[in-house]
Amino acid sequence: MDYSCSRRDLLRSGALLTAGLTMSRSGFGLGNWNPTVANARHEQALVDEFARLGEDLPAVKARIAFNENPHGLSPKAKEALIKAAETGNRYAMFEGRELKRLIGSREGVKPENIMLSAGSSELLTAMAVLFTGSAAKGGGGTILTSQFTYDDFLGCARDFGAKIDAVPLTKEYRYDLAAMKARINADTRLIYICNPNNPTGTIVPADELTAFCREVSPKVPVFVDEAYIDFLKPEERAALPKLVAEGHNLFLTRTFSKIHGFAGLRLGYAIAPEGFLEELQKYSRGEWNPSVTTLKAGMASYQDEEWQNFCRTENARGRDILYKGLKEKGYEYVPSYANFVLFPIRMKTRSFEQQMFKNGIMTSTREHNAQPYCRVSIGTADEMGMFLDVFKKIA
Ligand SMILES: Cc1ncc(COP(=O)(O)O)c(C=O)c1O
Repeated sequence: MDYSCSRRDLLRSGALLTAGLTMSRSGFGLGNWNPTVANARHEQALVDEFARLGEDLPAVKARIAFNENPHGLSPKAKEALIKAAETGNRYAMFEGRELKRLIGSREGVKPENIMLSAGSSELLTAMAVLFTGSAAKGGGGTILTSQFTYDDFLGCARDFGAKIDAVPLTKEYRYDLAAMKARINADTRLIYICNPNNPTGTIVPADELTAFCREVSPKVPVFVDEAYIDFLKPEERAALPKLVAEGHNLFLTRTFSKIHGFAGLRLGYAIAPEGFLEELQKYSRGEWNPSVTTLKAGMASYQDEEWQNFCRTENARGRDILYKGLKEKGYEYVPSYANFVLFPIRMKTRSFEQQMFKNGIMTSTREHNAQPYCRVSIGTADEMGMFLDVFKKIA
């Protein structure tokens, strides 16, 4: 079975590259781990690995491996962050509530339908605990999803003994919702959909996804990971919060790590039925996890539409530069709706990554159906130029 790497796996692969180690999920001996304690252990192992390799790392000229925002924070968010530092001695109190109100009014849901978190990864872990690890649901079960998708939630579920039923993508690298619907059975505990999908960058058409969730969620809960939704045009976005407001058994996660540039600041949120969030709250500290500075900056960023538009426009520009360079070299790519692009490469993944890395380009690769691929994050126009210069030399 073939899965995409999660952010944690990518970090690990980058760190292990120079050490000449392999990158299996169990590389750090995490077999049956208990996320409430072992999540921190997992992250710490990565940090230690980087620290050990620090001296040997070449100067990174373009860090285009983790789908971060290369333009940084909105100037308004930066200002709010600095101002909020004054209150850093106090626990956050009303800030979470205010941010939930903002999000709720834009999405047409109540603040009670929103749960904040320090990045959405925390919610993915909590979901895995709730659905496959907790006594409440009986442990195990089957998660229905697609091949070649984001592995973070699925990896946690697998560690809890869940079976992953991964349906092949369509030939356009899209989730095949019709085939997934046909695979639902009595053991299906949850359906996981990543839209836009990482690593393919493809989407399911909005009306198709809405219809699927409407039809299926009364039988099986549907979890849609919408980490990259902010890169979509309004007409490309499925109106899923509306289904939540109508009471459908639907769970959405979003993150500030992408268009808002908060990957290091850590802020994410879920939109789901209220009762569902009450259950999930048992496995996450929710809005008490993000710092008061992050929450304040998050509110400023959320309202700074001008900055978000700028980032979207620059992302499209970087994508076009990349498409053009790949075409010139005779390479095909998967047209992307997100801030990364997947394309088949003509050498082994490890060798490609290493050669890129030696030239100061940090990018990532994976294999699917025995075909090696590069997934390159969209950086600044300059970074895309640097990537293409090296790519043209080595490919
Ligand atoms: C599809 C998807 N979901 C969730 C995440 C988690 O991001 P974060 O924890 O920074 O919110 C990522 C990160 O790259 C992602 O690609």
